[in-house]
Amino acid sequence: MVLLLLVYFLCNTLLFVNGINPDVLLNTEERIKKDGYPVEIHQVTTEDGYIFNLFRIPHGLEKQENEPKNKSAVLFVTGHGGIPKHFLLLGKKLAAAYYFADRGFDVWLFCYRGVDCQNPKKHKKLNWNKNPTYWDFSFHEVGVYDLPASIDLILNVTGQKKIFNVVHSSGGSIVYALLSEKPEYNDKIKIIANYAGGVITYEVDYPFVQAIAQFSGVLKNVWKNLGMYELMPGFMSDMLGDTFRKMCADPKWFRTCKVTLWTFGSHVSTLIEDDVVDLAVSYFPRLPIKQVGHFADNLNRGDFRKFDYGPDKNMQVYGTRLPPRYNLSAINSPQAFFYGKTDTLSTKPDTQMLQGLVSNTILDYEVGPKFVHLDFLFARNATQMVYEPTVKLFQDYDAGIVPKKIVRRKKKRADMYNNSY
Ligand SMILES: *[C@@H]1O[C@H](CO)[C@@H](O)[C@H](O)[C@H]1NC(C)=O
Ligand SMILES: *[C@@H]1O[C@H](CO)[C@@H](O)[C@H](O)[C@H]1NC(C)=O
Ligand SMILES: *[C@@H]1O[C@H](CO)[C@@H](O)[C@H](O)[C@H]1NC(C)=O
Ligand SMILES: *[C@@H]1O[C@H](CO)[C@@H](O)[C@H](O)[C@H]1NC(C)=O
Repeated sequence: MVLLLLVYFLCNTLLFVNGINPDVLLNTEERIKKDGYPVEIHQVTTEDGYIFNLFRIPHGLEKQENEPKNKSAVLFVTGHGGIPKHFLLLGKKLAAAYYFADRGFDVWLFCYRGVDCQNPKKHKKLNWNKNPTYWDFSFHEVGVYDLPASIDLILNVTGQKKIFNVVHSSGGSIVYALLSEKPEYNDKIKIIANYAGGVITYEVDYPFVQAIAQFSGVLKNVWKNLGMYELMPGFMSDMLGDTFRKMCADPKWFRTCKVTLWTFGSHVSTLIEDDVVDLAVSYFPRLPIKQVGHFADNLNRGDFRKFDYGPDKNMQVYGTRLPPRYNLSAINSPQAFFYGKTDTLSTKPDTQMLQGLVSNTILDYEVGPKFVHLDFLFARNATQMVYEPTVKLFQDYDAGIVPKKIVRRKKKRADMYNNSY
C-alpha cells in the first residue's frame, strides 16, 4: 500500500508534466452543453433501491421550428467499463449520441448502478463509499432491475410505446439478461442495434482478458470468504484514473497512453485518431467482484450462464449444480448485428452463433475491412460506417419497412447450446 502511494506520488509529481486537456475533465452533462446540445437529467430508482441518472438529449444542434412531439426514443447502453460520455467523445455531429439527435431521434444515455456519472445519491439505504454491499451485483441485476426501470421511465416521459436500443460490447449481456428473464420487455423494443455485442465468447482471442479470467475462482473466494465486493478499493480506481489522465496529457508518455487503450480495448486500432485517445483513457472503472467473476466464468466456458455460486449454493438458488443458461430463444425483439471484421473480442463466429440463438435477427452487418472493438465508439469513421446505416434502419422501421428475418441454420455449437439447458 505504501509502495503504491509512493509510485502514485512519483508519477503525478515528477514524471508527468503537462496540463490536462480540459475536455477530459468534463462530466457528461458539461460535455453535452459544451458541444451545444440540450441536456436533461432524469433520476431512476429501481425496485432494489438503486438510484442513478439517465441523460437525455431531446433534440439536435439546431432545434427545428416544429419539433415533432412523437419523436422516437433511442437508448444507448455502454459495455462494462464504459461510461455514457463515450457516446459523445467524437464530438458534435459525429459522436453517436449527437448523430442520432441531429437526425430527429430523442436520445437517452443509460448510466446504471456503479457507473460514475454524477449520481447524487446512489441507493435508498446504501452509501456507495461506506457500504461495501452496494457493490454486490453483476450484469444480471443491472439487466433485471436497472434497464427495465429506465425503459419504463423513458416510455413514461416520452409517451412512446417502444424504444430503439443501441448497445455496445458487453452491454449486450445486460440487455439479453433482461429480455430472457423478463420477456415481456421484448414488446417495448423496436430494434436492438447490437455493436460488437459480447455475449457469446467462444472464439475470443484476447490474451490479456483471457489470462485475467483464469483467476475467477480465486476472486470469488475472496468475495465469498472475506466479504470483499470490489476488486480494488474506490480510492485506488480514482488514483489510477488520475494517473491515466496525467500520463495521457504528457507527450513523452503518449505512446504508453495509447498502448493502455489498445490493451483495454483488445486490439490496436488503425482508425482511432490521436486526439480522441486521452479522452478515452480518462478514468478507471469501479470493478465489482461479482461482475468480474460472472464475466470471467462465462468467458472461460465460452457460454452465457447465470452467476455461478459454486455447486452447493447453485442447488439452493437454481436447483441445479451448474448455473442455468440464459434463455436466448426467448429474445424476440428484432436485432441488427454490427461487428468489426478484425475484432478479436466480439468475433464474427461468436456473433453469428448468437444470431442463430436469438429468435429475431434482421441484419448481419460486417464492418470492415479493418474495424475493431473500440472503433464503434472512438473512430471518426464509425459515423459513416456504422451510425449512418443504423439511422437508416431505424428510420425505415418507423416508416414501416423492416428487413426480413434472417434464418441461420444452427451450427453444431448453437445446437449444443440449446440442447444442454
Ligand atoms: C409522428 O406522427 C406523424 C404524424 O402523425 C407521423 O407521420 C410520423 O410517422 C410519427 N413519427 C413517429 C416516429 O412515430
Ligand atoms: C408516468 O408515471 C406517473 C407516475 O407513476 C403516472 O401517474 C403517469 O400516468 C405516467 N405517465 C405515462 C404517460 O405513462
Ligand atoms: C425459452 O423460451 C422459449 C420461447 O419463449 C420457451 O418456449 C422455452 O420454454 C424457454 N425455455 C426455458 C428453459 O425456459
Ligand atoms: C475513414 O475516413 C476517412 C476520412 O473520411 C477516409 O479517407 C478513409 O478512407 C476512411 N477509412 C475507411 C476504412 O473507411
